[in-house]
Amino acid sequence: MNDRVIIFDTTLRDGEQSPGISLNPGEKLEIAHQLARLGVDVIEAGFPAASPGDFEAVRTIAREVHGPVIAGLARAHAADIERAADAVREAERPRVHTFISTSDIHIEHQLQSTREDVKGSARAAVAHARSLVDDVEFSPMDATRADVEFTAEVLQIAIDEGATTINIPDTVGYAMPEEYARFLGRLYELVPALRDVVLSVHCHDDLGLAVANSFAGVQAGARQVECAINGIGERAGNASLEEIVMLLETRKADIGLSTGIATREIARTSRMISRLTGYAVQPNKAIVGRNAFAHESGIHQDGVLKERSTYEIMDATTIGLDANSLVLGKHSGRHALRSALLELGFEVDGQALNTAFKRFKEIADKKKQVSAMDLEALVTDELRDELRAYTLEWFDVEASSRRPPHATVQLTTPDGETVRGDFTGDGPVDAIFRAINSATRREARLREFRIDSVTGGPDALGEASVVLEVAGQSAGGQGVSTDIIEAAALAYVRALSNAERRVAAAADVAETDNADPQLTPTP
Ligand code: KIV
Ligand code: ZN
Repeated sequence: MNDRVIIFDTTLRDGEQSPGISLNPGEKLEIAHQLARLGVDVIEAGFPAASPGDFEAVRTIAREVHGPVIAGLARAHAADIERAADAVREAERPRVHTFISTSDIHIEHQLQSTREDVKGSARAAVAHARSLVDDVEFSPMDATRADVEFTAEVLQIAIDEGATTINIPDTVGYAMPEEYARFLGRLYELVPALRDVVLSVHCHDDLGLAVANSFAGVQAGARQVECAINGIGERAGNASLEEIVMLLETRKADIGLSTGIATREIARTSRMISRLTGYAVQPNKAIVGRNAFAHESGIHQDGVLKERSTYEIMDATTIGLDANSLVLGKHSGRHALRSALLELGFEVDGQALNTAFKRFKEIADKKKQVSAMDLEALVTDELRDELRAYTLEWFDVEASSRRPPHATVQLTTPDGETVRGDFTGDGPVDAIFRAINSATRREARLREFRIDSVTGGPDALGEASVVLEVAGQSAGGQGVSTDIIEAAALAYVRALSNAERRVAAAADVAETDNADPQLTPTP
């Protein structure tokens, strides 16, 4: 048994399944580049059969991101597997990850099938995937609620057909650590060939045990952990990458296992995911919460000032929390901006550099100093611009404590038409949101609205995040500006553009599913 744990990142697949997250292809590619810098071993880039957009995003990542294995997810169905294999074909090391449920609850109610059929589908799926790529991962979905003997039979079939990694999902986050470890131990007894492939764990956090269960799995012999940055994912999320990695790192002397993660990239990766997904990190979250290294009580502060290890088990610099010293001002030129961005891991040239420089100048005119965090916010904000999107041209808001605020906005629609709308709302932000609805003639409903500052200080950049719902599809959007009303309006317009793309993608998926009612739309 080796002492290297493979980190399989599913932020772009399971993470992207979180409600309200809608990453565009540019954002997905930028995240994948950052995951490669972070040193993950496998990037699960998406579910190519879900929509043409997902397929293209996986294909672009496979083509352009070097280092990690690039995996595409596929149901145990020939068309899905072909789509996934096609999408990852140009990767340096392509992988197809196929799955089918082994729990009776899923077999009976969701698949409306039988155990015999599941065995047949698993056999056909792995064999087909192996005929297309050398690296095939197989997952018995909902395994932890399945009969262990039946799951073992299916795994034996998958290994006989050439699966190279076997992943055991706790799909609904139901397992307890000892129970999960026992389940894996029993599978090793029933399927000795499991020792010839990589055993993987994939745990959801419904009971807050995803990291504990993943760790129990590793102690039982698993050498791949499937996880996501900031723990995002379906429902309560997946095991958080930064937590499992820092557990293995901090307690290495006792555990004796290591990963290939460049831990100093953790903080930046977490900020990028939070910003692009609109999912805020809770302040007290382990490792990446803003209070994770803060000491409030006098006794603790006193101790840390005398000797850091009195109250800190990790050094903040190991996750990259010191990498924020870089500062530019309004006299900094294009060259300085390009080098600063390069230092932050963003390679920006040509037209993208011109646009970033224009935004930088606008901000530097209003703020004395532009920090690394501001630059990160600015560049990730630029990534959001899409082809099929609304653009905010201008807005006017009249706000007063003596009469209801009135807003007027002008937008360009995805078809290039100029539209204008106005509204008198309960507050200036409400007025501008409803003016956008009126201009676009959309019945968008606001589900969430948040405003934060990127750094401290009175001239800090404001960062707004909006989740809204259009025709049953929810989507998020973010905006960054020194003016918080503008940040809110940009976020709303982007959320609206993302929601409309989701509505269109859902219509495409519905068409595909009508052709084959046996299929469920997402894993
Ligand atoms: O949670 C789950 O079972 C999954 C599978 C597709 C691996 O995400
Ligand atoms: Zn999952």
